[in-house]
Amino acid sequence: MKLFLDTANLADIETALQKGFITGITTNPSLMAKEPKGNYIDHMKKIVGLITQYESTGISLSVEVFALDINDIIWQARELRDEINYDNLSIKIPIGWNELHAISMLAKQNYQINCTCIFTEAQCMLATNAGARYISIFGNRVKELRGSFTQTVGAARKWLDMNQITDTEIIMGSIRSGIDIVDAQLAGAHIVTAGLPHYIKMSEHPGTSASVDQFMTDFKEWLE
Ligand code: E4P
Repeated sequence: MKLFLDTANLADIETALQKGFITGITTNPSLMAKEPKGNYIDHMKKIVGLITQYESTGISLSVEVFALDINDIIWQARELRDEINYDNLSIKIPIGWNELHAISMLAKQNYQINCTCIFTEAQCMLATNAGARYISIFGNRVKELRGSFTQTVGAARKWLDMNQITDTEIIMGSIRSGIDIVDAQLAGAHIVTAGLPHYIKMSEHPGTSASVDQFMTDFKEWLE
């Protein structure tokens, strides 16, 4: 399973790129709103600059539109692609009846679409058939509505596999813990996107610290 970083924070992105475990970055308007005010596209260009600096140009970058009107969504998607000018750019568009038009139109024009804000397997089917490259299920927001994200992810994956669809991948976002990441993988997500603190916690275990401490102590005694 691939691991993406869910943030617009440049320091966190640089740290994750240094560690070398991420293959994608996902952003959204709420994540962007946590960063200092400025130009949206310039900020995305800074992210591309970091990706290039760390020679990770295979990294997928998802940037979301911030409009409700269908013509505005299409116009923004074009502007984002032209201005950011990054090969592995995906345009995030929320699922919705009107939005399906934009997704299918842009997908036919070879835009990579990350269809976002997905809560059900039925929405996954619509987005996939409209041409989405990624379908982003909002794991813990599903759970907060008393749903089961493992069930949603599992059913969506089963449907993709049964129909031999290999060019659409499930991203599970809305992660609240390392356990969610493991559960998403077991349920069949191709990708999880999570904030840096979750990955830091995943790298740690009291047993690991105790083992390393013991190695250091034992070896120090042998050296003396
Ligand atoms: C995914 O693409 C979204 O950016 C994100 O994971 C939403 O999660 P949240 O519920 O933490 O805002």
